[in-house]
Amino acid sequence: MHIRIAMLGYGNVARALARLLLRKTDILQKDYDLTFSVTGIATRSRGYAINPDGLDLEAALQVVDSGGKLDTLHRGEPVSDTLSFIDACPADAIMEATWLDPQTGQPATDYARAALRGGRHFITANKGPVAYAYRELSELARQQDRGFFFESTVMDGAPVLGIGREALLATTVQRIRGILNSTTNYILTCMEDGISLDAAVAQAQQIGVVESEPGTDIDGWDAAVKIVVLANVLMGADLRPGDVDCTGIAELSIADVQGALKAGERYKLLCEAAREGDTIQASVKPVRLPLSDPLSQIGRTSSAVTFETDTLHHLTVVEGDTDPTTTAFGMLVDMINIARGRYR
Ligand SMILES: NC(=O)c1ccc[n+]([C@@H]2O[C@H](COP(=O)([O-])OP(=O)(O)OC[C@H]3O[C@@H](n4cnc5c(N)ncnc54)[C@H](OP(=O)(O)O)[C@@H]3O)[C@@H](O)[C@H]2O)c1
Repeated sequence: MHIRIAMLGYGNVARALARLLLRKTDILQKDYDLTFSVTGIATRSRGYAINPDGLDLEAALQVVDSGGKLDTLHRGEPVSDTLSFIDACPADAIMEATWLDPQTGQPATDYARAALRGGRHFITANKGPVAYAYRELSELARQQDRGFFFESTVMDGAPVLGIGREALLATTVQRIRGILNSTTNYILTCMEDGISLDAAVAQAQQIGVVESEPGTDIDGWDAAVKIVVLANVLMGADLRPGDVDCTGIAELSIADVQGALKAGERYKLLCEAAREGDTIQASVKPVRLPLSDPLSQIGRTSSAVTFETDTLHHLTVVEGDTDPTTTAFGMLVDMINIARGRYR
């Protein structure tokens, strides 16, 4: 099978995906009889490139790395915006790794609608479309007989959503607990060592753990969006990030964090979704966890999720050492699964 891919965004994740596709070309062909071409790339400030015969991915990486514009690789009529690009690019699958407005899930949700309505598979690393429009987009994908996959939206490429689809069959998930935001986890680990929140943020920015604007991490919003994704996809909830009872870590002091540690506990920004009767309640809160709780052992930039289900009582997935390539890996797995028809 040959799959034509259009990429939305060519930032850290999408460029890591391009490199991963190049690195895995042979194994995709050998193990899955799968070949690919990238027929288009869309960006916000570096232009648009479409080539129905397939772009030279190495050349596209060089153009962006050297600060150039992708338009130099474009063939055909000029493209003015990303929705027109989705319409114009001859592609079977759109792989999206653009920006997220955490308050609205846009513009990526509109890109997902346009792609699926146009009969393309939609693969995203962006939490927005899943947190704000999971049911609608899943139904649209079903009607169009296309895949809507998003493994990388929570815990990068770790298969926490694939577990639900492929492994937790005939199972009711009763509760999900997780450490889902690595920035706040890193900060809390630093505070245990007596480093203030502000100094820990600066340290995290210096080593590239956190983006320049860490506000949505510290106030718990990023974690809230992620627990909504898990609850909606794995528990059948229909929550939005605003439904989450959310408190960040801004009010915690070094004394709080070290006091917990002296008492044999650790402060963690705990994300939780629990079935209560017919409803599902979700929260994000700084919580003191006993050291016997596996989630208390998740340090620095690692993340973890525990599923409590009616079949497997406690299942915990832990992920460490993440980078844009681990996120890109989730998108690659989504692409393979869609090519294998796993979306039906
Ligand atoms: N970084 C990670 O490890 C990670 C992990 C999990 C999920 N994610 C998610 O993956 C997505 C991408 O993250 P990233 O780290 O790759 O971000 P990034 O480096 O900032 O790249 C974003 C890319 O999207 C492009 N873009 C922005 N708005 C666009 C638009 N309207 N149309 C077309 N392209 C647009 C940008 O264009 P310019 O190049 O012109 O700026 C850039 O190429 C985000 O949603 C993020 O939440 C990232």
